[in-house]
This record gives sequence, structure tokens and C-alpha cells, in this order.
Amino acid sequence: MVLNGPNLNLLGTREPAIYGSDTLDDIAGRLEDEALALGVAVDMRQSNHEGHLIDWLHEARADAARAVILNAGAFTHTSIALYDAIKAVELPVIEVHLSNPHAREPFRRRSYIAPVAKGVIAGLGVEGYSLALRAAATL
Ligand code: DQA
Repeated sequence: MVLNGPNLNLLGTREPAIYGSDTLDDIAGRLEDEALALGVAVDMRQSNHEGHLIDWLHEARADAARAVILNAGAFTHTSIALYDAIKAVELPVIEVHLSNPHAREPFRRRSYIAPVAKGVIAGLGVEGYSLALRAAATL
């Protein structure tokens, strides 16, 4: 399962100098192709609501997803609820960011996801999602 948090529905037009010009649909299409080649299935979702991301993490466990690729957007830096949910579902979660939060504002340096993530990929743009998918397929 590939989960995307707030404002990522605006990719393509949202601060393209930071996030690039690909839309979320472009990324989903690319992941679908790559998943086919890897022999895995991808379920890509986006929500601007924290509770949806938590419900989907629970669903990932109920559906026995192999792994979750999570770009929690700004919830990365605020959400103890996502931290708790990741601990609760006991699934490998790969944290992904298009930009490198460590090279930006100081408030982006804290991640509530990283301590409970299997791995973290940041700063490599769309390629980060592909790298995460390849890693997820081996978990
Ligand atoms: C982001 C980085 C976050 O700091 C920011 O709030 C986002 C996008 C990224 O993909 O680079 O919304 O997760």
C-alpha cells in the first residue's frame, strides 16, 4: 500500500521547484508499471485527513499488505497518532519524501515516522517512490 498525506494531491502545481512537476497520478502510473515488473500489486491512495491515513494503515494490516510506503507530508512532523498506528500494525513502513526535509526549515527535521519506519528515503524526488517499491518487494 502506498499512502500519501496532505497537499500531495496538488503535486505537479505545488511548489514545483521543491516537489517537481510530476502529478500524483504520474507517480501512481509509474509505480503500477514497476510493480508489474516486480510481480507485486500496488494500492496507491492520498488523503488530506490524518484519520484516513490511520484507517488505511489498519486496513493494510487487515489485508496482510506486504509493506506500506508512506509519504505523510506535514503529518510526518506532527503526528503521534501516525507513530502509534505504525507501531500498532507491525508492518514494515518505508517513509518517503520527495524533498529532503533536513535541508529545509528546522521544523521539518523532526519525523514522528522515522523512529518506527523500516527505512527512510528523502530528497530523491519521484525516484524515491520507485526505490521504496523495490525495497518493499524484497521485504
Ligand atoms: C514532503 C515533505 C514534508 O515536509 C512536507 O510537509 C510535504 C511533502 C515531501 O514529500 O517532500 O508535504 O513529505
